[in-house]
Amino acid sequence: MKVDLLKLVEYGGCSAKIPAKQLEEILKFLPLPSDPNILVDIDTHDDAGVYRISDELALVLTTDFFPPVCSDPYEFGQIAAANSISDVYAMGGDPVLALNIVMFPAKGLPLEAYAEMLKGGFDKATEAGVRIIGGHTIDDTPPKYGLAVVGFVHPEKIMTNAGARPGDKLILTKPLGTGVIMAAQRMGIADQSDIEEAKRQMKLLNKTGAEVMKRHGIKGATDITGFGLAGHLLKMARASKVSINISMKKVPLIGKTYSLVDDGCIPGASFRNLEYCENDTSFSPDLDYNLKMIAFDAQTSGGLLMSVPADRLMLLFLICTAGLSSFGL
Ligand code: CO
Ligand code: CO
Repeated sequence: MKVDLLKLVEYGGCSAKIPAKQLEEILKFLPLPSDPNILVDIDTHDDAGVYRISDELALVLTTDFFPPVCSDPYEFGQIAAANSISDVYAMGGDPVLALNIVMFPAKGLPLEAYAEMLKGGFDKATEAGVRIIGGHTIDDTPPKYGLAVVGFVHPEKIMTNAGARPGDKLILTKPLGTGVIMAAQRMGIADQSDIEEAKRQMKLLNKTGAEVMKRHGIKGATDITGFGLAGHLLKMARASKVSINISMKKVPLIGKTYSLVDDGCIPGASFRNLEYCENDTSFSPDLDYNLKMIAFDAQTSGGLLMSVPADRLMLLFLICTAGLSSFGL
């Protein structure tokens, strides 16, 4: 029996996140632990927490999991793992170990689908050099899957969303549009080639981009996921105490993303992300409506966003475009 995981979910991938506004309200009630070895905590809403073990070594800790973004269990496993591991890359870390986080209906779906999903996660983790050494499962519908990941970083080489500096330029390493394309798939109006391209991008590890950042001593970085390009940039702007300008015309899009927005493919998450950012964002009067909504499109397993000193932009841009499908903003 061929399983179609998308039939089981309303929101898939990172668009199933709790809206940023609500999350901030909740986190206000949570006291921040104090410990001089905590180098990054939830205060700056960064991609992962970082804890110093010694002057040479810090741990990077993160977890992400979500409901299916595609029909096939094996591909879903690959995407979920690539997305979870990305938060370690976004901190400049080397991912090393992981635990599976699995929610899966014990009845109603064949066990092979479960096994395929885990195999997808295992294969992607292996590609990243990550060993999965345990996990936890809950009987639950719809399925959800992801990893808790541990990585290492040198305490002086951490990249954070607080590391952007005035005058920096931005490089984004994957095109936008996974939220729009998934919505279009649900409506039955997405081209198969766009669906395939979106899945290819979501499965792609952010490993190469992270290596480029490390080699060039980049300090400001994040990855683009559920809060959309604009949402994650706002978090970076706040943490770095800078303002950020983007020209949406320069941002690359997957396939027919732009025209699908015309056809009404604007997922609910885009409006929630817009609402979160609205008070702190200004829009140029000639900004096209479709491009504006795409800036807020929730990405699943999106690209790295690096904040690069202007004098190194051309060099890094060339390296990225040669090695990745990467782009300047
Ligand atoms: Co992240
Ligand atoms: Co995350």
